[in-house]
Amino acid sequence: MADARHRLTYRIRYALRHPERVRPYLRRWWRDLRFRLSGKRDHVSYYREVMRADTARDPRKAVGSANQARWLALGQLQFDYLVDHGLRPDHDLLEIGCGNLRAGWRFIDHLDVGRYHGIDISPDILLAANRTVVDRGLQAKEPRLRLVEDLTFDWLPDARYDVIHAHSVFSHCPIEVIEECFAHVGRILREDGWFDCTFNATAGKEHHVLHEDYYYRPATLIALAERHGLTAVFQEDWEGRHKQSKLRLTNTAG
Ligand SMILES: C[S@@+](CC[C@H](N)C(=O)[O-])C[C@H]1O[C@@H](n2cnc3c(N)ncnc32)[C@H](O)[C@@H]1O
Repeated sequence: MADARHRLTYRIRYALRHPERVRPYLRRWWRDLRFRLSGKRDHVSYYREVMRADTARDPRKAVGSANQARWLALGQLQFDYLVDHGLRPDHDLLEIGCGNLRAGWRFIDHLDVGRYHGIDISPDILLAANRTVVDRGLQAKEPRLRLVEDLTFDWLPDARYDVIHAHSVFSHCPIEVIEECFAHVGRILREDGWFDCTFNATAGKEHHVLHEDYYYRPATLIALAERHGLTAVFQEDWEGRHKQSKLRLTNTAG
């Protein structure tokens, strides 16, 4: 009871400090209620529905960019970071939750033919991704885009990728989805490969907002990775570039 009262007071104070966020929040609250009442309770069907609605309005906004300039800038940010950290044209890259290729089109352009693979749970955003390939004239690079409904990677062979990348995906995922990914991702990573993923970091209580935005303590994800034979390192040099934090996971030696 005290907890509920505390949450309500917090929300009222927050609304008074940010009145411009009240309408969008109420819109999302209403959507959350509708999706859940219509039986979209598991993460994949719920988030597919979110992406279907948002992509119909604007694929750039659906992946979190308010306009074309922000879409380009956010892709550039992800691309520059990976290239600065050693992404080479002869690397094989898997992008988890590739969206409409905000960063993906730059990776495709940078990598040799056939070395970019993107997966997503949303058919709508993958159609927008196809459109980006065409708009950017990248057909000859033969990127592979695949619809998935879980993160077990069971169709893939062992040690398939040098680099795996997931930007702004775990920020929308409940912990069991992240755990599923951690349980299987080590198998498809090469020995010296790495997996970068961003997440919403909190120093306080872990929570979600309307089943769309999830907040985790870094220590929770680092311990989860460890349980699945992965070493996770908090990427300090990413801090301040973006509102989310980044972890780098590698297979724990031995
Ligand atoms: C905020 S968008 C980011 C897209 C892209 N990474 C980027 O930075 O432009 C999140 C994407 O992750 C996808 N997604 C959400 N949960 C997923 C999951 N469990 N597996 C794969 N993709 C997922 C969504 O459909 C969406 O395309």
